[in-house]
Amino acid sequence: MTMPHDDFGAGPAIILLHGFPFNRSMWREQIEFLSGHRVIAPDLRGLGENVAQTSVCDSSSSADHTLKSVPLATMEIMARDVAALMDELKIDRAVICGLSMGCYVAFELIRIFPSRVKALVLCGPRAQGADEAEKASREAQAQRVLREGMGFAVESISKSLLAAATVKDKPNVVARVTEMVLQTDPGGAAAAQRGMAMRRDYSNDLPNVKVPTLIISGREDGVRTPADAEFIECRIKGSRLVVIDDAGHLMNMERPEAFNHVMLDFLRST
Ligand code: MLT
Repeated sequence: MTMPHDDFGAGPAIILLHGFPFNRSMWREQIEFLSGHRVIAPDLRGLGENVAQTSVCDSSSSADHTLKSVPLATMEIMARDVAALMDELKIDRAVICGLSMGCYVAFELIRIFPSRVKALVLCGPRAQGADEAEKASREAQAQRVLREGMGFAVESISKSLLAAATVKDKPNVVARVTEMVLQTDPGGAAAAQRGMAMRRDYSNDLPNVKVPTLIISGREDGVRTPADAEFIECRIKGSRLVVIDDAGHLMNMERPEAFNHVMLDFLRST
């Protein structure tokens, strides 16, 4: 079944993979900007409008709200969904650009389907797997979201997701992020949390990445710090790290001009 997706423009393909708990609308400014490319932005499994692809949502509305009742959306399954979408759209190879959770999916794509990845753009990435504390915290959050819905997640937006300048000067960005979070299906969110808890440690995969790689980090990202990005830069030969000032975890929405400029420069050079 086709994943809900945007597909705009013509030219070399670039696929934009959103973060958690967001959806493809977070790429609006990039989709508008990257003319000269075919830009594809899907909603990953269980998120955005992609609630039909999986039964995760049915279980969240059932009487049994335990985590066990929620199927898992692993990073590998999400990557296989993206590869299937590429088949449907007759795209052999693409530049894969992910943000945070989207980077986990990008790491899976290049691990499983290396020939389909022309280049990587990793925004707010982290390579390490989840330790026991992170697994426990993700499980607690999955349980909570099933019990209470997405409301509690809104707190983290101004605390750790966005830069101070964004919170102060860009109420439209804060409103868009809040709307995305609140629209997320609780069942899909829980399934993705479980998937992220089980993700592979990608650290040892990084030296195998042989495609041009750009890493973009928000200077004030409280979720994935520039140090997480440096860890990756050191391990992917020839990769380049750009840190954007006055930007947090959602740097592409917070500083779209700076982000687009960096991205376009990279795309031109590949
Ligand atoms: C994201 O933005 O995708 C999340 O921060 C990913 C995560 O929870 O690891």
